[in-house]
Amino acid sequence: MFGHLNLLAALFFIGTLKDFSVTGLRLTEVRIPMYVIKGSVAQLECLYDLDGEALYSVKWYKDGNEFYRYVPRDMPPAQTFLLPGVNVDLHNSSDAIVTLRNVNLQSAGRFRCEVSGEAPSFQTVTEHGDMIVVCLPHEEPKITGGRPRYQIGDYVRVNCTAGSSKPAIKLSWQVNGEPVEQQKLRKYDNIVSGREGLEKSVLGLYFRVEQHHFRNGDMKLKCIAELSTLYWRSNEESVEGDRPQKAPVLESRETVFASNSRADPVQASSTAPSPTTAAPPLALLLPVALAVVLAALAQGIANEIDIDKISMDGTAPGGKAIAKGARQASELLADREEEIRRTRAGKSATQLENMALTAR
Ligand SMILES: *[C@@H]1O[C@H](CO)[C@@H](O)[C@H](O)[C@H]1NC(C)=O
Ligand SMILES: *[C@@H]1O[C@H](CO)[C@@H](O)[C@H](O)[C@H]1NC(C)=O
Repeated sequence: MFGHLNLLAALFFIGTLKDFSVTGLRLTEVRIPMYVIKGSVAQLECLYDLDGEALYSVKWYKDGNEFYRYVPRDMPPAQTFLLPGVNVDLHNSSDAIVTLRNVNLQSAGRFRCEVSGEAPSFQTVTEHGDMIVVCLPHEEPKITGGRPRYQIGDYVRVNCTAGSSKPAIKLSWQVNGEPVEQQKLRKYDNIVSGREGLEKSVLGLYFRVEQHHFRNGDMKLKCIAELSTLYWRSNEESVEGDRPQKAPVLESRETVFASNSRADPVQASSTAPSPTTAAPPLALLLPVALAVVLAALAQGIANEIDIDKISMDGTAPGGKAIAKGARQASELLADREEEIRRTRAGKSATQLENMALTAR
């Protein structure tokens, strides 16, 4: 907190130094854009307070070379001098503003504005700023070297490569939305290409897969590419885990299905039988029924429901229950296949997030 205040105080002091050291003519604001996108227009501002004096000239320099001069007494007052990368739009320039058209990589540099008062004092005040010309990448950041599936103990070795730009793009990695420790990163030299010397940044991610890397069965690897506030892109890959837990899940389902099929005849016996199931083969039924009837007669409590029940458990309904079990099995398999298909689709999907692109 105290450090912050000190810094602020220091900045304030530097900012106001000129005002104290110069009485009369002073610069009130010099604005040089820090970042300008290649091909765009740059406006450099130099505002001053004459404090009653008359203006003699406003001059602009790039890296020490004058490229623009505004002298009110001259006719016309504004003139420009040829300089590589500096293309002054005279119609849109004045004593206070210089407009540069179609900025290119050569336009980058240190820009200085110098304001002078008239005779007799010829007071001069000056201020400068650096301008960086940015060439934004046309391609999205790419993730390479990844596999669709990883097992615990496997090594993730992937690269993220940014599109060509100037200056180089800053890359970073996130695993499951969290920043990655330095030791998991592999830094490589930028790939420089073309006569403009555009650069491609490459950043590797290297780590051993552990259980906690999988959230709901998958792991998200995200590469973020940024350049100041001018550019922000990310690319995310979701990879599937080959976890041993997957098999037991399937097994437990099968267990349920197996016990279901065995339980089915019992369930069927408690529900009202359909006409077809209530017609067991006579050959089988007769001896059984006969035995029951005989036994019941002996006890004096014979009834049809008991006969029905015996026939259900013993014959046709059992076959139906097996068919029902088979149908459930195929449904379960279909479900499982659908699940596998869905997770495969999720795994191979590469999401491109085009978030903010804020150009000043
Ligand atoms: C420059 O001036 C022209 C008119 O001369 C105007 O149409 C244009 O918008 C101006 N451009 C800038 C960047 O000020
Ligand atoms: C990542 O890029 C570097 C440099 O281009 C290369 O040497 C390395 O083999 C790459 N690694 C993978 C996993 O693609």
